[in-house]
Amino acid sequence: MAKPIYVLNGPNLNLLGKREPAVYGHESLNDVRARTKARAKAVGLAIEFRQSNDEGELVNWIQEARDNASGIIVNAGAYSHTSIALLDALQAAELPVIEVHLSNIFRREAYRQHSYVSQAAKGVICGLGPKGYELALEAMAETLAGTKP
Ligand code: DQA
Repeated sequence: MAKPIYVLNGPNLNLLGKREPAVYGHESLNDVRARTKARAKAVGLAIEFRQSNDEGELVNWIQEARDNASGIIVNAGAYSHTSIALLDALQAAELPVIEVHLSNIFRREAYRQHSYVSQAAKGVICGLGPKGYELALEAMAETLAGTKP
């Protein structure tokens, strides 16, 4: 079986469902994990779905993905806007990267409108809530199958 897609979630995403539901919706991270896993199965991919509040742990997981994954889907939360370390790790991974945000970061505060992660990403999906994770999986499947440039 092909290597899994690492689906990595950053700080405060463990609070999904409870945290600012008007912005991030009512689904928990476990709900998001379940729908992402189901979509992965439907497109013939396996996932490794993780969350950490710790920037260093996310860097370690990206380094691990370099050898153990076939692609990375990442919602780095607030670290998207601050972390050159995550950007460096993603660039070093030499894997297709798709960035996801639940909220539309371009409709929000100015400090959310720049993402370091985007510089390593093939594409960015934002503002579509948990559906974004499913769309990222579909795009990843097409990318890996070579049906999309
Ligand atoms: C987020 C957007 C970030 O600006 C924020 O810090 C988050 C979540 C999103 O999924 O919309 O924690 O990445």
